[in-house]
Formats: sequence, structure tokens, C-alpha cells
Amino acid sequence: MRVEKNVALRPYNTFGIVARAHQLVRVAGEEDVRAVLADPALAAAPKFVLGGGSNIVLTGDVRPLVLKVEIRGRRVLEDGERGWLVEAGAGENWHDTVAWTIAQGLPGLENLALIPGTVGAAPVQNIGAYGVELQDRFDSLDAIDLRTGRVFTLDAAQCAFGYRDSVFKHAAAGPNDLGLLGRALILRVRFRLPRPWKPELGYLDLERRRQEEGVAVPTPQQVFDWVCDIRRAKLPDPRVIGNAGSFFKNPTVSPEQCADIIAREPKIVHYPMPDGSVKLAAGWLIDACGWKGKSVGNAGVYEKQALVLVNRGAAGAATAATGGEVMTLARAIQTSVYERFGIRLEPEPVVV
Ligand code: EPU
Repeated sequence: MRVEKNVALRPYNTFGIVARAHQLVRVAGEEDVRAVLADPALAAAPKFVLGGGSNIVLTGDVRPLVLKVEIRGRRVLEDGERGWLVEAGAGENWHDTVAWTIAQGLPGLENLALIPGTVGAAPVQNIGAYGVELQDRFDSLDAIDLRTGRVFTLDAAQCAFGYRDSVFKHAAAGPNDLGLLGRALILRVRFRLPRPWKPELGYLDLERRRQEEGVAVPTPQQVFDWVCDIRRAKLPDPRVIGNAGSFFKNPTVSPEQCADIIAREPKIVHYPMPDGSVKLAAGWLIDACGWKGKSVGNAGVYEKQALVLVNRGAAGAATAATGGEVMTLARAIQTSVYERFGIRLEPEPVVV
């Protein structure tokens, strides 16, 4: 185990925000975490687990000890009649892992192609896109307790998945509360990919693409390619324009609230949910308030998708957006959406 001091975090966050970690340890396996816990100077220090840095806003230098997850490895654990069980190390790149499964003939993750970040970060916010959420393909994960060094396994129920939410996003409220924020580091994730495979084309953009191509039943590779095309057309590539994907969650309202808003705003984009509530498109709400293409300092609202905030400055240069500018812009958007629609938008990334 090596403790690196004063490490530049700009390459490790997709927003391209300039900040430093006071101390950083690269974690290639559970033995590195145990070495940290065996070190009297580090054991009690607050810790921050860093994956691909694709869902964080750094608002300053990071004082807690940064544990940068670099655990590698991918393998097929089961190849059965009813499906495949695949395991990947938390530090593996998410998109490369999806591409690897497709290349190996293990379909099921193709709708989640091109999502930035790592395998270990995927369950933290239950990533989702084009009609599939991580929880739909999740089997279990191994994590290590950051106080005791004990390795434990969680199934889907124990992860308490919700929309862009899990037990890893919540702090423990009491001794019996399972909130694991800051308390655990995910080591490996296992995916259950059902057989026979069925394409998931419920999302309008995908179904439209299927019709355009004149394909009756696409292959997993085709769905993968279409998802990549759709994302590239709508979402900025973080290697070119710094961003953290959707900046706000799509809010949910009661049917009564929705009816009230529709009466005032007939064009509002809304989706009825199975539990009777109604989900609203946050991108539409922000767009309707005129934010598309606007900026605060070097932080801006992406021209093609108002739900994505971007770093307008050259990453790492003096003109790059600061976390403070991003949060000022985010708060201004929240205020205007609240004033016009009475809806409070909740940020999706973790603000550090
Ligand atoms: N819309 C606008 N203006 C905008 C943006 C969107 O009018 O500027 C409208 C669109 O026309 C559409 C609706 O809002 O009718 C929804 O937009 P879109 O289909 O692009 O999806 P989204 O709700 O904005 C969500 C996820 C994305 C995911 C896509 C596809 C959240 C917060 N975001 O976006 O996830 O890729 O659906 O499934 O749930 C992410 O989490 O980082 C992310 C990119």
C-alpha cells in the first residue's frame, strides 16, 4: 500500500473539475483496504471511495482519505440453461465490461452501454437507461467494511435499490440502520443475465430505430450499437466536454399534482408509474424555463439535453468550471423550476 499526497483529481472526475486529494491510496484488492485499516494514522481517518468519478461534483480539495478503486477482473461463474452469472471487479470500466459481455455472447447489459463510470459505481446509484436498470440484471456484490475490514455479500434486496438510489447513498441513521454511505467499499459485482435473451425495446428511441432499420428482432450487438448511437447524439462525451450525465433526477408527483400542472402546462412530458404516481421529465422542465445553452461562469447547460450540466472551460485550464460554479448554476435552475412549476429538483451526483 502506498499513500500518495496532494494528488490532482482532475483526471479522475468526468466533470474535469480541478481539485486535489490530500491523501490517496489505490485499492487493487481487499488486502489494500486491510493495509489501510492496519495503519494507525489512516485507520480512523474519514474515507471517500472514488470509482470512475462520473457522478461527483468536487467543490474543493478532498480532505478525507481517497480510496481509488482499481480492482480488476471479469469472469463467467455460471453458464446454465436459465442464464449466465458474470462477475466483474469494481474497478473495471463499465462500458468496456458491457462490450466484453456482448463479445463473449453474454447478452443482457446492452441497454446500459456507454454509461460512464466503473462497475463498482453502477450499483451505488442503480444506473439505468433505455428501459433497463442495473437492479434488473443484478445478482449480488461483495463489499468490505471500512471500519472492520470484514468482507460481506449483499443481494438485491439488501442493496435497497430505488430510482438512482441504493443503501450505498444513505448514511446510517442508527445502530440497526443499514445505510452504508462512507462505510463500505464495493469489491466485485455479479450480474444475472437471463436466458433466453429478449431485446428490451420499450424505450421510444430504440423502437423507432428498430423500425427505421427494418429489423424484426435485433441482435444484442445491434441493440448495443443503437444505444451507443442514441447516447452519442444526445449526451456529451465526457472526454471532450466535462459532465456527470443527468444532473437531476426525474421528479415524481402525485396524479393530482400532475393534473394541476397539466392544466397550466399542457405540453409537460410525463410518464405514469406502476404505483400510480407520475414521473416528470426534469430535462423538459429545465428546458421550459429557458436554460438550454445558458451558463454561469464556466458551468453551462448542455445545448442538446437540458438535464446535463457541462464544464465549458478547457478541462484543467484556468477557464475550467469550478465545483462552486456548477452548484451555483444548479441552484439557479432549481429555483426557477420551483418558481414556475412548484417542483423541487434533486441533484443526482454526489456533491463532495
Ligand atoms: N426533454 C426536453 N428537453 C430537454 C431534455 C429532455 O424536452 O432538454 C424531454 C425529451 O424530449 C423527452 C423527455 O424530456 O420527451 C425525456 O428525455 P430523455 O429521453 O432524453 O431522457 P431523460 O429522462 O432526460 C433519462 C435518464 C438518463 C438515461 C435516459 C434514457 C435520469 C435522471 N436520466 O434521461 O440517464 O440515459 O433517461 O433512459 O433518469 C444519467 O442518469 O446520467 C442518464 C444520462
